[in-house]
Amino acid sequence: MYNAMNGSAHPLAAKEMQIEAVPGDERVWVPQADNVWFRPLLLNTVQGQWCNLLRVRRAGILSRHLHPAPVHGYVIKGRWKYLEHDWVAETGSYVFEPPGEIHTLTVPDDVPEMITFFNISGCMIYLDADNRQTGLEDVFTKIDMCRRHYDAVGLGADYVDQFIR
Ligand SMILES: [Fe+2]
Repeated sequence: MYNAMNGSAHPLAAKEMQIEAVPGDERVWVPQADNVWFRPLLLNTVQGQWCNLLRVRRAGILSRHLHPAPVHGYVIKGRWKYLEHDWVAETGSYVFEPPGEIHTLTVPDDVPEMITFFNISGCMIYLDADNRQTGLEDVFTKIDMCRRHYDAVGLGADYVDQFIR
């Protein structure tokens, strides 16, 4: 089939993407919790996986959660730590969250803003202090959140479509 092609991609291949990761338009950031936002990059409905930027400003907390599948992160700006670990993810750090890992992300008081790229597979299972499930996010709930937000801020619900494969 590749031999018969005129273009640069197989007809069955998903469409490539090149976008400004940290855009000037604030509306692209989807609110997730107090002082926590995400910016979708790739919303992969075939593999149940997504890539996004997470932005947390002072005092923001990403609630305690479990990953049943691997997560990879790269810190672009600022620094942060998990309450459950001693190490601090600094600007430029690579972070691997293995399946089974439970953690709570916090930003130190002296850091006004952190931005980290995350590649997340499967889902986030939110837990209380006794490890009882309190919520769940997957690529589909992320898409739903984006649709609601982009509609509300005037970009249009279908603004998210460019990130979906
Ligand atoms: Fe996590």
